[in-house]
Amino acid sequence: MRPDELRSRRWFRGDDLNAFRHRSRTMQMGYAPADFEDKPVIAIVSTWSDLLPCHSHFRSRVDDIKRGIWQAGGFPVETPALAVSETFMKPSAMLYRNLLAMEVEEILRSQPIDGAVLLGGCDKTTPGLLMGAASVDLPTIFVPGGPMLRSYWNGQTLGSGSDQFRLLEEKRAGNLSERAWGEIEAAIARSAGHCMTMGTASTMTAITEALGLTLPGASSIPAVDSGHARMASASGRRIVDMVWQDLRITTLLQPASFTNAIVTDMALGGSTNAILHLLALAGRVGVSIDLDTFDTISRRTPVLADLKPSGHYLMEDFHNAGGLRALLSQLTDLLALDCPNVSGSTLGDTLQEAVTVDEAVIRPRARALRDDGGTVVLRGNLAPDGCVLKTSAASPSLLRHRGRAVVFSDYADLEARIDDEQLDVDEGSVLVLQHAGPLGGPGMPEWGQLPIPKKLLRQGVRDMVRISDARMSGTSYGTCVLHVSPESFLGGPLALARNGDVIELDADDRRLHLDVHDDELARRRQEWLPPSQRYARGYLALYAAHVTQAHEGCDFSFLRGNQPTPEPEIHH
Ligand code: FES
Repeated sequence: MRPDELRSRRWFRGDDLNAFRHRSRTMQMGYAPADFEDKPVIAIVSTWSDLLPCHSHFRSRVDDIKRGIWQAGGFPVETPALAVSETFMKPSAMLYRNLLAMEVEEILRSQPIDGAVLLGGCDKTTPGLLMGAASVDLPTIFVPGGPMLRSYWNGQTLGSGSDQFRLLEEKRAGNLSERAWGEIEAAIARSAGHCMTMGTASTMTAITEALGLTLPGASSIPAVDSGHARMASASGRRIVDMVWQDLRITTLLQPASFTNAIVTDMALGGSTNAILHLLALAGRVGVSIDLDTFDTISRRTPVLADLKPSGHYLMEDFHNAGGLRALLSQLTDLLALDCPNVSGSTLGDTLQEAVTVDEAVIRPRARALRDDGGTVVLRGNLAPDGCVLKTSAASPSLLRHRGRAVVFSDYADLEARIDDEQLDVDEGSVLVLQHAGPLGGPGMPEWGQLPIPKKLLRQGVRDMVRISDARMSGTSYGTCVLHVSPESFLGGPLALARNGDVIELDADDRRLHLDVHDDELARRRQEWLPPSQRYARGYLALYAAHVTQAHEGCDFSFLRGNQPTPEPEIHH
């Protein structure tokens, strides 16, 4: 690309009043024409906020990225976007992923921007940034925020989420004091960075690397490692070259790249949330994948990363063991090695010199954690459009199970009754949560790891079959059937389950069955009353009107597809 072909030239060059204003107002910020004229304008889309602790290092990372952009002859502009905070946004950060995606799309489209650096990491920020950028299709590079350092308490390693859930159960069982709980609270988030288990954040940034959208090796660098700052400035240098090469994001987001991403997800024992996000991202670029794509790839992909919640180690260990390239170098027969990446090389090139330093963390194929099926897709009369189960984090003894349903009509009902000593439940029961899906939650809150009833915890029970149309945190574990589609709020069959119904789960057969006669189900359907819509205005009304179901990725229906939106008019 030549300077006169830059998209930003439409704003800055010429002798009309518009160009005058655009140049004048840029000089208002202290820049001379030599700083920006005939240079690629690079947007740094940062999802920083004081209410997003995982991104507390982003302001200095923006400076690192700017340094790289200046060095390479670009003009950096910081354009903040919605900081979708997994910790603080209620009822669910997932509710706002699409809002971030819409914001990113319009930030990039409406302004003089030639290329984009996306800075995210906390769960929903990565897919939201990618979805928005994919719909504009500029040269784009992703700077993953990096995991926090491993944490310690009382001689134990603490992993984000996973150990908090595990220790909470010990506290509820009466095995942990208030004082110990307070110490854990202070210890479990040790530094800047996203969750350092293989939760949604680490899964999505690894997937982004596998899609070719980060510099090779970027996704596992701890947030506070000096190498992270160097990776950020190198990304700044690289995006300027990507603009001159016109290397656009959709050149990288090819069907084969999605295969690589799903292999990565499965080999990592990654978060079930990744399924929703990849379905949504693929929908933005016209790539055809569905739940069966995930199950097919799952059947042939071993789980090699021994990371919590499926295994034992944390992201810092994974990085030191060789990181994603070491993992993928063992799976070359499953990968499309000729897929390009932002560095200008191919996936195969980046794996050439990969070395596994620690085979306890990144297992060799011969000692895989599981030979296949890190996450499986189930179907049956309870989930005609499918649901998912993360088998790598489930109890093997429960993967084939038949039990009596204990049904909770919504989360408030669950909270009110789960610890009731009179609740008719035993360790063979199947806990069912309704009204927790895309519309019912809304936003599919991460309620899918339903708590084990206290009276069973005291008996030593630590896992049960749990079924919902909710999601669960990527850091969660247990035999939790998630994303049941269609959801109960819309009258999906999950809405028809009653206490005492027998439910059969068979992960090997990919089956989830409500063992109730069709006539009885038809009768219950006759009785079922649709709940009233709750949101009459604002973003939530837009969400309720357009969100798709879990098996479609929960994007808004009007944002799918890759029909180009016209470039903005610049004259008055
Ligand atoms: Fe931000 Fe877990 S809370 S990644």
